[in-house]
Amino acid sequence: MVENQVPATIKNRLQISCYDCHSNNTDYPWYSKIQPAAWYLKDHIQEGKDELNFNEWATFSDRRKNSKLRSIISQIEEDKMPLDFYTLIHRDAILSDEDKRMIIDYMTALKDSLE
Ligand code: HEC
Repeated sequence: MVENQVPATIKNRLQISCYDCHSNNTDYPWYSKIQPAAWYLKDHIQEGKDELNFNEWATFSDRRKNSKLRSIISQIEEDKMPLDFYTLIHRDAILSDEDKRMIIDYMTALKDSLE
């Protein structure tokens, strides 16, 4: 995903909606200093990163990329990501139907190209 061929629109969307929990560059929000939001957020960021870290994408094998792509597609299709508590505060992280379609189409094509 950090690969250069990713279209800027998709990359920007992922950065806004997913990178706080799925990359090394977390932009800690103001409420990260307020307990218990801070504990909650810290756990989720750690857990999110353990599951999927976009900064490590380039090091994944094709097989791993493939399974992560499948997982990303289903998480977005089922409206599971970004997490609800996050979009409650980060309204700009909400994916519109158009964003979802764009990301899913792109991820599907990428997945097919790996098979
Ligand atoms: C507020 C933090 C947060 C945000 C924002 C977030 N995630 Fe997650 N994500 C998590 C956590 C925590 C988990 C693991 C637990 C779970 O599945 O609920 C996870 C799990 C996942 C998984 C499952 C990984 C696997 O190996 O199966 C995928 C895929 C995923 N997220 C994709 C995304 C995408 C795509 C976005 C943006 C559209 C996003 N996430 C935004 C926290 C977040």
